[in-house]
Amino acid sequence: MRVLDSELMKSYARMAMDGFNQGWHERNGGNLSYRMKAEEVEELREDFKEGEWRVIGWQKGDESAFPGLAGEYFMVSGSGKYFRNIELDPEANVCIIELNEEGNRYRIVWGLKGGGMPTSELPTHLANLEVLKARDPEMRVVYHCHPGNTIALTFVLPLDSRVFTREIFEMVTECAVVFPEGIGIVPWVICGGRQIGEMTAEIMKKQDVAVWAHHGAFCCGKDFDLAFGLMHTVEKSAEILVKVYSMSPSKLNTITPENFRELNAPFGIKINEDFLYERKSNKIGYVPE
Ligand code: 13P
Ligand code: ZN
Repeated sequence: MRVLDSELMKSYARMAMDGFNQGWHERNGGNLSYRMKAEEVEELREDFKEGEWRVIGWQKGDESAFPGLAGEYFMVSGSGKYFRNIELDPEANVCIIELNEEGNRYRIVWGLKGGGMPTSELPTHLANLEVLKARDPEMRVVYHCHPGNTIALTFVLPLDSRVFTREIFEMVTECAVVFPEGIGIVPWVICGGRQIGEMTAEIMKKQDVAVWAHHGAFCCGKDFDLAFGLMHTVEKSAEILVKVYSMSPSKLNTITPENFRELNAPFGIKINEDFLYERKSNKIGYVPE
């Protein structure tokens, strides 16, 4: 089967356009990777060519290996490519790459037809996908975007996973159900480098969302719907927090730790207690002692 006719390509392009329509992908902002299933690789193999093997490195001269992903195939957005163009011309803006048996070289087997390279965040995506696969073999999607409200909050909330998560949790009941392990925070660190990649992968060992201060967010999922829905939920809550904070520095009413605990049994979840600290004030950004 041709890649362009596949359900996978359609779902990938739909997610890119959904993110663009949310305003999360100005210019070439954001990137998306998907670890393909063996049956998807087999179905599309006839459309593959054999590109040249390249090293995977965060910085020039740097070489990285992802042995946990050896021999796997990924659909990845191209560096400098615009999400708004993916649906129009997937073959020019997206590629499929194969990792070698050591997990330290990749080659492009489809796409980027006018030339180009996979996203500059490729090592970060692979580092995340590697820890996610170890966590749950069904985890396949890693998504990076630039959602405005979430980014705005990184200027006014403490860059502390507990505080940031709790404020987001309190805005929409659904948050604690959708990501009971909360949000990890990476302070400002230069993007595309090893440090930010490794910090994000460390977060992904336990949590499904990582916010990069003053830049954007990374999230993961078993499929495109779950990854997009997760980011959509975080950003919706961030939007409400921005509205509330614009009206008042503190909340008159809110969801309490006891309220959150009531969600555990009916929803079959266990909200991480780290986020359910007692607060001495409803001031937004309150830091527990
Ligand atoms: P790429 O165009 O290389 O994917 O980079 C976009 C981006 O958002 C970097 O953080
Ligand atoms: Zn970015």
